[in-house]
Amino acid sequence: MGEKLKIAIIGTGERGTCCFGEILKNRDDVEITALCDKNPVRYRAAARFLGLTDVKFYSSIEDMAKSEKLDAVIITTPDYTHHQVAMTALQNGWNVLIDKPLATTVKGCREVIETAKKTGLTVMIGFNLRHHAVLKRLKQLIVDGVLGKVFIAENREFYDGGRTYMSRWNRFYSATGGLWIHKGSHDFDIFNWLLDFPKPLRVTSFAAVNVLTPEGIPFELEEGHEPGPGCNVCYYREKCKDRWILSDTEMERWGEEAIAQDGYIKNLCMYTSEKDTHDNGIAMVEYENGIKVSHFECFIGARADRTYTVVGDRAIADVSLAERTIKITPRWNGEVVTYTIPEESGGHGGADPSLVDTFCKVLRGEVAPNSTAEHGMLASAIGQAAEISRREHRMVEIEELFKD
Ligand SMILES: NC(=O)c1ccc[n+]([C@@H]2O[C@H](COP(=O)([O-])OP(=O)(O)OC[C@H]3O[C@@H](n4cnc5c(N)ncnc54)[C@H](O)[C@@H]3O)[C@@H](O)[C@H]2O)c1
Repeated sequence: MGEKLKIAIIGTGERGTCCFGEILKNRDDVEITALCDKNPVRYRAAARFLGLTDVKFYSSIEDMAKSEKLDAVIITTPDYTHHQVAMTALQNGWNVLIDKPLATTVKGCREVIETAKKTGLTVMIGFNLRHHAVLKRLKQLIVDGVLGKVFIAENREFYDGGRTYMSRWNRFYSATGGLWIHKGSHDFDIFNWLLDFPKPLRVTSFAAVNVLTPEGIPFELEEGHEPGPGCNVCYYREKCKDRWILSDTEMERWGEEAIAQDGYIKNLCMYTSEKDTHDNGIAMVEYENGIKVSHFECFIGARADRTYTVVGDRAIADVSLAERTIKITPRWNGEVVTYTIPEESGGHGGADPSLVDTFCKVLRGEVAPNSTAEHGMLASAIGQAAEISRREHRMVEIEELFKD
């Protein structure tokens, strides 16, 4: 093995620490050289959590740039910062892995792409779902022609995600460009990739907050006792089935000391929190050649699954990520085949370690990045169009977003 790859993590919150930090620290070929976060409580707690004793700390990427020679940085800051952080990283000569989305607007994505081209550095996007073994198998079946010519597909995501999407910074449109970008960019990217990147033409969507409002609280409130603000201190924390109590270890990163630095409360009441995104919605995309897809997402309920139906002129594939199955129903002979894909260890069904492994191989020049900045822009473009559609109640031409 050659020299270790020197990698810094920018944004030592949940993904930076518990996903990328955890995976990188267990790799023999990587040294986590530095941790960078605006909140010093968080980078110190991340180092303790990861057992890193010889790591440098920085409160800004600019300070890190003055002292560190790095092979790459992993960007796990909030979405609205990706554009600026990525530009600064590239301008300082670092390759970047940006957790999705690339940026919250097409304009931001284009600027990152231009800077990457000028610097000749690599930008890879954290589209970890592409590394999910079930979706990799589905992609292979499509490439092998098992479905024939694919012309329609749908995906439904059920995820009890109120805690994730209604309790933190991502509940605001201004922080993410909306959930169709923050979360949906994953799903739009999977369609783009499965279909081998046909040109998306137009998008329409509907979305709303139907349940996670103060009126949606599923029990009676007592006079004089408001819920929240955070679950750990909420009067109703024993009674509420949706509570999100942070453990002592988590409180090292998200407790009073950290809140005193930046006011960021991680587990606000998902019912009473102010928000302007959605807790459920449907988006539809029309691609060139008459291909069309729909994506449904719902963050209420006990089900946790992403299901897909992909239809070609030779067969239909029905997929469940939770059950890890792909059922192929051929068009004529009727013999149905169901593949069950073995479990893989690691976050997102084994997808996260595979994503990191690919990035390390890219840095060593062994493979090309499989999720490029252009792919990131395409997914963000569909997400941005879906957000405009939902807010302005109209169908949005993707071209509109690329006009200067
Ligand atoms: N690929 C996936 O499956 C997946 C899953 C969850 C989140 N994400 C993405 O990962 C990113 C991080 O999400 P998270 O849930 O870990 O968020 P988080 O809030 O847990 O962590 C973000 C961290 O960034 C820090 N930060 C904010 N601005 C900064 C700046 N300018 N410079 C340095 N640090 C800064 C915050 O203090 C915080 O510690 C987001 O872009 C999100 O969309 C991806």
